Amino acid sequence: MPLKVAVLGCGVVGSQVVRLLGEQSGDLAARVGAPVELAGVAVRRLDAPRDVDVPEGLLTTDALGLVSRGDIDVVVEVIGGIEPARTLILAALDAGASVVTANKALLAEDGPTLYEAAEKAGRDLYYEAAVAGAIPILRPLRESLAGDKVTRVLGIVNGTTNFILDKMDTHGAGFEEALEEAQALGYAEADPTADVEGFDAAAKAAILASLAFHTRVTAADVHREGISDVTAADVRSARDMGSVVKLLAIAELAPANGGEAGVSVRVHPAMIPRTHPLASVREAYNAVFVESEAAGQLMFYGPGAGGAPTASAVLGDLVTVARNHRQGARGVGESAYADRAVVPMGET
Ligand code: HSE
Repeated sequence: MPLKVAVLGCGVVGSQVVRLLGEQSGDLAARVGAPVELAGVAVRRLDAPRDVDVPEGLLTTDALGLVSRGDIDVVVEVIGGIEPARTLILAALDAGASVVTANKALLAEDGPTLYEAAEKAGRDLYYEAAVAGAIPILRPLRESLAGDKVTRVLGIVNGTTNFILDKMDTHGAGFEEALEEAQALGYAEADPTADVEGFDAAAKAAILASLAFHTRVTAADVHREGISDVTAADVRSARDMGSVVKLLAIAELAPANGGEAGVSVRVHPAMIPRTHPLASVREAYNAVFVESEAAGQLMFYGPGAGGAPTASAVLGDLVTVARNHRQGARGVGESAYADRAVVPMGET
């Protein structure tokens, strides 16, 4: 029996997911153990221009109808934003589908609602593409490092701001010019304020902190400062001091009230010595530097934004979820977590 996949959204990422599903169908079938069939693609407008030819009859504007059909095995949500994505994911789980999503904003705002719905439905919820595009970082934090104790995570997790800061550093480019280039390359959010003011990085920091420290951190817990106040002069003086300015997401264990271990999570521009591995992260690349008790220092590096890299992470999750679905198994759930205080900035 083929495995039926519905894709919600056919923008920068969705169109690449649809393309890869078509181009890799033979390999995907071999890896999953069954043909993977694209059963529908939900879009806002049928006549919008898109970067992929969706097979005849598969486009629909009725996303809720598609996910509630009852015969869909996996729903891929790449619409982004809170609604209607949340309603559609909950409806998909309720109808018996597993879900793969790239939706960092929704996971950072209301992840527990989704985890609980997946748990209740006995279905998978995977979201590797939500943080740092193509870089496998969530699974290593959740699974590979589950026997270790992570003490700190430092990430460059927003490609747009890294691109802007890099152009300011290496070409003396102006902020607006660099932002326009990042938008043209498909890195920026629909509203680039989310990138520039650090909201996108804060959402990703919340997800990283939740998995690294097995707790629940929301975007509202993250102290956030963007790059709009970083001037060409700041970038030059950092350069003169042998440093580079990067927008960092930082999550670390910190003593909370009463001496218990809490978590401090923040996003802000920081000067990094050029000798640090994170200083070499150029253009829209991302990197996540993890420090843990037993493993020591690890760095995960790669393309953090853009349609095809993000679609690569989506397809990886799709294969895992599809295999589980076929075997009647579930992947690692999100239900086991410890309550840790989130320590406000200034108290660490
Ligand atoms: N706007 C995001 C970025 C896209 O620039 O990193 C990937 O999440």
